[in-house]
Formats: sequence, structure tokens, C-alpha cells
Amino acid sequence: MGFCFIPVIRSLSKASFGILFLFFLTCFCFPSSTEAYDALDPNGNITIKWDIISWTPDGYVAVVTMNNFQQYRHIAAPGWTLGWTWAKKEVIWSMMGAQTTEQGDCSKFKGNVPHCCKKNPTVVDLLPGTPYNQQIANCCKGGVLSSWAQDPTNAIASFQVSVGRAGTTNKTVKVPKNFTLNAPGPGYTCGPGKIVPPTKFITSDKRRVTQALMTWNVTCTYSQFLAQKTPTCCVSLSSFYNDTIVPCPTCSCGCRGNSSTCVESDSPHLRSVVGGKNNLAPVVQCTSHMCPIRVHWHVKVNYKEYWRVKVTITNFNYRVNYSDWNLVVQHPNLDNLTQLFSFNYKGLTPYGAINDTAMLWGIKFYNDFLNEAGRSGNVQSELLFRKDKSTFTFEKGWAFPRRIYFNGDNCVMPPPDAYPWLPNASPRQEVSLLTLLMSCFVALVFYTFA
Ligand SMILES: *[C@@H]1O[C@H](CO)[C@@H](O)[C@H](O)[C@H]1NC(C)=O
Ligand SMILES: *[C@@H]1O[C@H](CO)[C@@H](O)[C@H](O)[C@H]1NC(C)=O
Ligand SMILES: *[C@@H]1O[C@H](CO)[C@@H](O)[C@H](O)[C@H]1NC(C)=O
Ligand SMILES: *[C@@H]1O[C@H](CO)[C@@H](O)[C@H](O)[C@H]1NC(C)=O
Ligand SMILES: *[C@@H]1O[C@H](CO)[C@@H](O)[C@H](O)[C@H]1NC(C)=O
Ligand SMILES: *[C@@H]1O[C@H](CO)[C@@H](O)[C@H](O)[C@H]1NC(C)=O
Ligand SMILES: *[C@@H]1O[C@H](CO)[C@@H](O)[C@H](O)[C@H]1NC(C)=O
Ligand SMILES: *[C@@H]1O[C@H](CO)[C@@H](O)[C@H](O)[C@H]1NC(C)=O
Ligand SMILES: *[C@@H]1O[C@H](CO)[C@@H](O)[C@H](O)[C@H]1NC(C)=O
Repeated sequence: MGFCFIPVIRSLSKASFGILFLFFLTCFCFPSSTEAYDALDPNGNITIKWDIISWTPDGYVAVVTMNNFQQYRHIAAPGWTLGWTWAKKEVIWSMMGAQTTEQGDCSKFKGNVPHCCKKNPTVVDLLPGTPYNQQIANCCKGGVLSSWAQDPTNAIASFQVSVGRAGTTNKTVKVPKNFTLNAPGPGYTCGPGKIVPPTKFITSDKRRVTQALMTWNVTCTYSQFLAQKTPTCCVSLSSFYNDTIVPCPTCSCGCRGNSSTCVESDSPHLRSVVGGKNNLAPVVQCTSHMCPIRVHWHVKVNYKEYWRVKVTITNFNYRVNYSDWNLVVQHPNLDNLTQLFSFNYKGLTPYGAINDTAMLWGIKFYNDFLNEAGRSGNVQSELLFRKDKSTFTFEKGWAFPRRIYFNGDNCVMPPPDAYPWLPNASPRQEVSLLTLLMSCFVALVFYTFA
């Protein structure tokens, strides 16, 4: 592919190049969202660390710590669920800062009854407001974890577990198997527990270092393919130089009528349909795209040295408030973002050299909370870019984003050839597949016989 691509682009006009460039960018430069590997966050993972802090007559006490090392994927309510399978006949005597969902069959025990006797316990976080004597540090957040870029101090969760009928030395303890993480819903795959050098803890007065008796780590990674999610957001575009508003592609997240339920925003039954907070199924406003979230990118002003974009995120979901939402945007000018109004910003540099990707999120207590669908169901911000003379252009959709994620999910973009055009732009040149193949063929012949 490589060698036939270059002659092809030489043979095309500048106009077609824009489209082609976008096309190749979309097709080849990024692994598709079906792969576990996330090009924009290649080291993103959730690491679960077990530190044995003391031995007991029949087992051990461990502090389990979950770190969300993902830059922009957080765990929203109703939160994480962690499961594993015991390697032997272990039981959980007690827990702090979390609980198992089921006790299981503890009928063999007389007197003290364990907290959980299941071979494959399922653990959930406790809710905020849990009595102090059942808490430990970093617990009790209802399973909600921030993303690493947004709030690393809240990207961590911990609980303590007292395990019985286990080994009582680092030679006899067996690492649990088959870790599973729902966060919430499927999407994460966890590797095996690996014994690692014991964690060192620094005492609060920083004068003494203690260490765990034994430590193992489990790494879980996310894949949108495993999550089997239909898209949850789409992108629409407009510009000051063209009246056309390019809407989200029809059926981006579902088709009106059959695939999902929706309500008209002016429906008199709106409140009764949406009510019933126990039902978690989304109720979206009826639109042609049927997405719960739409991101609108408006190229607003052209200055001599700068240009300005307005970004609006609209919630069409009547049943969800998005707290701590985030947006990942890829655009070649993002390395020269000069100013951002009313959003937080962090550049993501997945490959070091590539710095065209940034994460945007709301300011605490101001717009970090995206309200349910309705009049206040939107947040917006403006971005001011410094023009880079060598690449800046309003032609051929260059001013529009290459890719947008909302809360870590890839948003459906309009096709590049539908982007708003500059007035008097040269008429659109169709680059048919045939032309492309022909050029490839010519190039191949050329390279073979030259
Ligand atoms: C998990 O993420 C951390 C932080 O990005 C990284 O240092 C570590 O290598 C990752 N672990 C694996 C197994 O990918
Ligand atoms: C187990 O403990 C012994 C000392 O008691 C230590 O030498 C060894 O490294 C430990 N092994 C592991 C896997 O932690
Ligand atoms: C772990 O899962 C694998 C595949 O899902 C299964 O074959 C294996 O028996 C499980 N191990 C335990 C200890 O449950
Ligand atoms: C184990 O996980 C912790 C984070 O919880 C990390 O700091 C540590 O480096 C990991 N150890 C190894 C050997 O990967
Ligand atoms: C939606 O309806 C169309 C035709 O009415 C049908 O072909 C399609 O399979 C339906 N999709 C779903 C998800 O039910
Ligand atoms: C969303 O938040 C608003 C105001 O904070 C609240 O009134 C509403 O009940 C919430 N909606 C949902 C679905 O939780
Ligand atoms: C972004 O990358 C370009 C080219 O790789 C480099 O020249 C520039 O200094 C980088 N900018 C930042 C802010 O890292
Ligand atoms: C970014 O802006 C600086 C001036 O502020 C300029 O020198 C540099 O070429 C620009 N880089 C890119 C990649 O736009
Ligand atoms: C605006 O862009 C559309 C493509 O989205 C194009 O069809 C139309 O001709 C453009 N309008 C002007 C005035 O150039």
C-alpha cells in the first residue's frame, strides 16, 4: 500500500487531497475501536493490587487497591463490580470499605459465620455515608472512579478483606484466579494476578517505611468491542463561512421507530415516561441520530493570527445526568491551543511526538455536571487556536475535528465529504475507488518497469 499511495496523492488536486487525507487518517492511522488497544491511551488500564498486611491464624488480611490509570475513561454510577475465583477453599471472614453481593453457603460454620463463603465472590463498593467503623481510606464512593487525567486522587478505590482457610506464609498463599471487572457493564478483561515486589508504605509522618508481606497485581484493560456498545454519541458541524449545518449521521446510535425507545421533547407524557427512576434503561429524545449525546463543533471566527471554535455538548438522555464528563478531541491544531474558555484542558501525547489530541472536561461546580435532557442539558466552551501558517486552512474540512470521544466512547462523525465547504471552493472532485485503483495500478506498473 505504502508505495502506491504516494504517487496517487501526487496525481490528485489539492482539493481531493483534503478528502483523501481525512479518509486515510480515519482508515489507517488509528486502530479501529474494535481492538482492545486504545491508540489515544496506549497505557490505559485499571490495576488491582492486593497487599497482604498481616497474617491471621488461618489466613491473611489484605488491602485491595484499584487504580484507574486510564486517562479519560472513568467509572460512572452504578460503579464497579469486582469478581474472582478462589484458588483453594478460602472464605472471607470480614470486609471493610466494600462488601460481597452474596454470602453463599456458610452452613459448615458454627459460631462465627464468614462474610462470604462463595468460591467466586462478587464485590461492590459501599455507598458514601457508610458508618465510619466500616470504612477505610479511598472507599465508599458507590463504585465511582475518576479518570486519571481528570482527578487522580479520586481515580483510586480500596477495600480490606480478611481471608480465612488460606495459606499463612508467602509460600502457601495462592493468588485468586479469573478476575473479572464490570465497570459498570462488560468491556474489561483482567489478566492473571502476578506476584510483584511487596509495596512499600511511608508512614504519615514520613519517618518510617513499612512494607506489605506479599503483593500481587492484576491488570484489566478496556475494549469497546467487548463492551458491545452501540455508539452513544455523534458529532455535528457548522461554520461561519457556510450556512449548512451538517447534522449527526442518521441512525448514528439507533434508528427511530424500532431499535430504541424515544420520547418527543414536547410529549405531554414526557414526565410519566421518564419517571420511574428505578428503571435504568435510557430514554432519549427522538432525533434522527438517536444518540444520548451530541457534540457540536462550530468554526466561529477567523482572526488574523487565530481562529475560534465553539463546542457544545448536548444531552438527549432524559434519564442520565453525566457528572465528570470528558471529551477527547483530535485536531492537528490542538498542539497550539492558545486559550480555552470554561473547560479544563490536558494534552494527550500517546506517542510522544503526536500532540494533536487533547482532553477537555468541565470545571468543578461550574459545568462538570451535564444535566439530563431538557433546557439545561448542555455545556459549552470556546477554543482559541493560534494559526500555524504552514498547515492552517479553512479548506476541505481541515478546521473540523478528526475524532471525538465522549466519556471514552468514540463519537460517530459525519462523512468528511459532507463537511461545510468554503464558498467558491473548487467544485468537489469525486475520488472514486476506480480512480484510486487505477492510480495504484499505474504506479505499480511504473515502479515495476522503471
Ligand atoms: C498500567 O498502566 C500504568 C500507568 O499507565 C503503566 O505504568 C503500566 O505499565 C500498565 N500496565 C500494563 C500491564 O499495561
Ligand atoms: C517470601 O518471604 C521470604 C522471607 O520470609 C522472602 O525471602 C521471599 O522473597 C518472599 N517471597 C515473596 C514471593 O514475596
Ligand atoms: C477460569 O476461567 C476459565 C475460562 O473461563 C476456566 O476454564 C477455568 O476453569 C476458570 N478457573 C477457575 C479456577 O474457575
Ligand atoms: C503494581 O501496581 C501498582 C499500582 O497499584 C504499581 O504502582 C506497581 O508498579 C505495580 N507493580 C508492578 C510490578 O507492575
Ligand atoms: C428496524 O426496522 C427495519 C425495517 O422497518 C428492519 O429492517 C430492521 O431490522 C429493524 N431493526 C431493529 C433493530 O429492529
Ligand atoms: C439530574 O440532576 C437534577 C438536578 O441536579 C435532578 O433534579 C434530577 O433528578 C437528576 N436526574 C437524574 C436522572 O438523576
Ligand atoms: C508538538 O509536536 C510538534 C512536532 O512533533 C513539535 O514541534 C511541538 O513542539 C510539539 N508541541 C508540544 C506543545 O509539545
Ligand atoms: C505553534 O505556535 C508557535 C508559535 O506560538 C509556532 O512557532 C509553531 O510553529 C506552532 N506549531 C504548530 C505545530 O502549529
Ligand atoms: C456549504 O457546504 C456544503 C457542503 O456541506 C456545500 O454543498 C455548499 O455548496 C456550501 N455552500 C457554499 C455557499 O459554499
